[in-house]
Amino acid sequence: MRTEIDELRALIRYHEHKYYAENLPEISDADFDVLMRELEELEAATDAPIPPDSPTRRVGGGAELGTRLQHRTPMLSLNNSYDENELREFAERVHRLLEGTSVEYVTELKIDGLGVSLIYENGVFTRGLTRGDGEYGEEVTDNLRTIRSVPLRLIETEIAVPPVLEARGEVFLPKDCLTEINIQRETEGELPFANPRNAAAGSLRLLDVSITASRPLDIFIYTLNYAEGFTPATHTESLENMRRLGLKCNPHTTYHKSIEDVQKYYERWVEERHGLTYETDGIVVKVNNFSQQQELGTTSKYPRWAVAYKFNAQQAITTVEKIDVQVGRTGALTPVAILKPVTLAGATITNATLHNEQEIQTKDIRIGDRIVLERAGDVIPKVVEVLTADRTGDEVIFKFPERCPACDTPVQRTEKEVAVRCVNVGCVAQLKRRIAHYASRNALQIEGLGPATIDQLVDKELVRDVADLYTLEVEKLSTLDRMGAPSARNLVHQIEKSKEAPAEKLLFGLGIFHVGENVAELLIEHFSSLDKLSKTPLEEIESVRGIGPQIAESVLNFFGHNQPLLDKLRGAGLHCFTVEAASNRPEASIAADSFFSGKTFVVTGSLKSMTRGEASNEIKNRGGRVTSSVTSKTDYLIAGEGTGSKYTKAVELEIPILTAADFFEKL
Ligand code: IVH
Repeated sequence: MRTEIDELRALIRYHEHKYYAENLPEISDADFDVLMRELEELEAATDAPIPPDSPTRRVGGGAELGTRLQHRTPMLSLNNSYDENELREFAERVHRLLEGTSVEYVTELKIDGLGVSLIYENGVFTRGLTRGDGEYGEEVTDNLRTIRSVPLRLIETEIAVPPVLEARGEVFLPKDCLTEINIQRETEGELPFANPRNAAAGSLRLLDVSITASRPLDIFIYTLNYAEGFTPATHTESLENMRRLGLKCNPHTTYHKSIEDVQKYYERWVEERHGLTYETDGIVVKVNNFSQQQELGTTSKYPRWAVAYKFNAQQAITTVEKIDVQVGRTGALTPVAILKPVTLAGATITNATLHNEQEIQTKDIRIGDRIVLERAGDVIPKVVEVLTADRTGDEVIFKFPERCPACDTPVQRTEKEVAVRCVNVGCVAQLKRRIAHYASRNALQIEGLGPATIDQLVDKELVRDVADLYTLEVEKLSTLDRMGAPSARNLVHQIEKSKEAPAEKLLFGLGIFHVGENVAELLIEHFSSLDKLSKTPLEEIESVRGIGPQIAESVLNFFGHNQPLLDKLRGAGLHCFTVEAASNRPEASIAADSFFSGKTFVVTGSLKSMTRGEASNEIKNRGGRVTSSVTSKTDYLIAGEGTGSKYTKAVELEIPILTAADFFEKL
C-alpha cells in the first residue's frame, strides 16, 4: 500500500518532470518548495531508510570520481560534414550500402556539451558515466543525480519499465549561465572555460557535488542504447518511448523522407539556433530504421548510419588597437584586447578577453595585429588566430605589467595558477569591483550606484569598504561629478533601502569565493542568519544538504578574516542582523493555543493576497501542518478561487472548508 510519504514523492517527481523535462510547470516554485519541505519533514520523522530515488536525495554523498568503467557498448563519436555536398555524399553512401531501399532520416540538434550514459535498473537511476574515451567512461553518478531533468526514477505508464535501461545523452549548461560562469572564473583568477563542452565537463566532473548542484546543468537524451524487452523499430519510436518514461529528449527532432528536406532543416537552424537558450554546433542526421542502422553498421569510430552536419563558426577580422589590464574582485589581472569595432553574429564587438599572460604569448598577439575573432559555440568572442602575414612591422609586443595597474603593488605569480594577481588587500581596483558586485541587481540592488560613481567614491576615499556606503550623505554625494542633489538624494534613499535586504542577498553580495546566489540561499535557509553561520563549525556547514567542503571552507575563511567588516555592517543597521530569515522563524514564536496549532490543512486555489507557499508558512508558524492531498486526516481545506479535485474530495469526505476570507480572519 502506498503511504503518504510515497504519494508525496510521486507527486514531487511528477512536478519535477513537468518543470524540468517538459518545461510546463503546473504549480509555482513556492508551492513546489512547500511540497519538498513537507517531504523533508516526513522523512526526518520516520525511521525508515530514505530510498536513493527520493527527490530529497539529489545532493548527498561525495562523488567518487576517477572510477573508470567499461561501457556496455562503445560510445562512438560522429563523422562530420561541413556543407551540402558532404551531406549528399553521406546520403549516397547510405543508399549504395542499402542497395536502393528507401531511407527515412531523423534530424536532431547537435547539443554542445558532454556525452553521458545513464543506467536505470528496475526504473531507478543507479549509475552514470561520462563518454570518456568511448570504451571506458568515468563514473559521475552522484553529480548526475543533481541534474533535475535526470529522473531518479522512470515513470511507469502504459509502457512497462524495463529491468535494465541505458540511455545516452548530452549534459550542457544554458548560454546565459556560460557567460556568467566565465565572468566569475575570470574575476576569481581562473581560466574561463574555452567552450561549452569544457564548461559542462568542468561543472559535472567535480568532487564537490554541491558545486555541481549549484550550476543549472541540463540534459537531452539522444539514444536508447539498451532496454531489456524493448523492441522499437525506429529511432523516433525509441525517443517517444523514452519521453514517456520521463527522460528529457530535445523537442526539435524532425523526421524527413528526403535528404533535400534535411538540408532545409539545417538551413532553418543556421539562423534559429541563436534564439535557443543552449548552444548547438550543428545538426545530427540519423537513419531512422533500426534494421537499416544495423545493416549499415559502424567503423571503429563512427556509425555509418549517422553524421554530424556542423554549423560554420562565425568569424570576423578586426584590429587590436590596445591591450588593457583589468583587476578583478579577487585581484586577478585579466588582459583585454580593445578592438576596432566589428559586427559578429549580430552584435558589435569592441573588446575581447585575452584571459591571461600565457594566452597572449602562446598566440603571439601584438598591439596593431589583425586578428580573426570567432563566436563559435561560445557566447564570449575569442581571438582564434593572428594574421601574421598582414604584419607591417609596426606591431608592438605587449609587456605584461609587473605592478598592479591600479595600486602599483608588485604582482604575484605562483606555480599553482596561470593568473597573475595583485595581492594588496587595499587595492582600489579590487575594492571598486567588490562594491559593484555588492550593489548589483542580484545582491543588495542599489540602483544609481554605477561604475562612474563608484570610481569617484573610492578615488576620493569616501568609501574604503562596502560598509562605508552607509555613511554617505546627500551633501557629500552632491560634490561628485555629474551628481546633482536629486540624484544624490535618490542614491542615499537606495542605499538606505538596501538595509532591508534579506540575509541571503547580503551573503551573496559579500563576494565570498564559491558563494553564488544558490549557495547563499541554501546557507541562510539552514542557519537563518549570518551570525549563526559565522559561529558554526566547518563540519556542521558541510553537513548541510547542497554544501560541500570547498564552499564550507571558503565561508569560514571569509568570516575568520572579515569580522570587522561584518561589525561595521551591523553597526550601520542592516536589518538582517537583527531579523531572522522568515522561513526559519524559531518554533518559540508559535502560539500553542492558536486555531491552527496541531491541525492539518490543505491549501488550494488562489488566495489572491498571499501565495499558497506564504499561506503554508503562516500556518506552520502557528503550529499547524500543511499537506498536499485531502485525506480523512485533513482538518480543514482552505479554498481560494479556482479550486478543483481537492474541493470535491473535501466535500465528499465532509471536511470543513474555509474560504480565503475565513482563513485571513483566523490568521
Ligand atoms: S548521436 C553513435 N545525437 O556529439 C551516435 N550525438 O561529436 C552517437 N551529440 O559523442 C551520438 N548531440 O556526445 C548524437 N543529438 C545528438 C547529439 C550528439 C550532441 C554529441 C555526442 C557525440 C558527439 C559527437
